[in-house]
Amino acid sequence: MIKLTVNGIEHSLDVAADTPLLWVVRDYLNLKGSKFGCGAGLCGACTMHLNGNPIRTCITPVSSVAGQAITTIEGLGNVDSLSSVQQAWVEHNVPQCGYCQSGQIMSATALLASNSHPSDQDIDSAMSGNICRCGTYPRIKAAIHSVAA
Ligand code: FES
Repeated sequence: MIKLTVNGIEHSLDVAADTPLLWVVRDYLNLKGSKFGCGAGLCGACTMHLNGNPIRTCITPVSSVAGQAITTIEGLGNVDSLSSVQQAWVEHNVPQCGYCQSGQIMSATALLASNSHPSDQDIDSAMSGNICRCGTYPRIKAAIHSVAA
């Protein structure tokens, strides 16, 4: 059994120790907001927070985060109560296809938690591991600046 706290709820899960956290969250906890993109830690679609820091969950064995606090996109807010970053994404019409956007929001949220007024360079640096095939980067940057304003 592996104990995991996800969005403040503790779970005891009978899963193989080397199962990637992404699949535990999606398939066992049925939280589908985090996406599978590359499976190699390169695209950021699977980003969640471990103790507030963004991690690539497609390459994170669940056993390595046992007992620690995981936050997924579902833990930031919901349709009735969006987080400030989620609200900014809506106001700036950031998503195009949307597939990468939960990962983008998780990385942006972590950035803003550690740096409340990031520069363009700070944003480029913090968000460089989150790839968007639709090229929504200018809107992502504007949304992040609007939260910081
Ligand atoms: Fe995890 Fe691409 S799916 S980084």
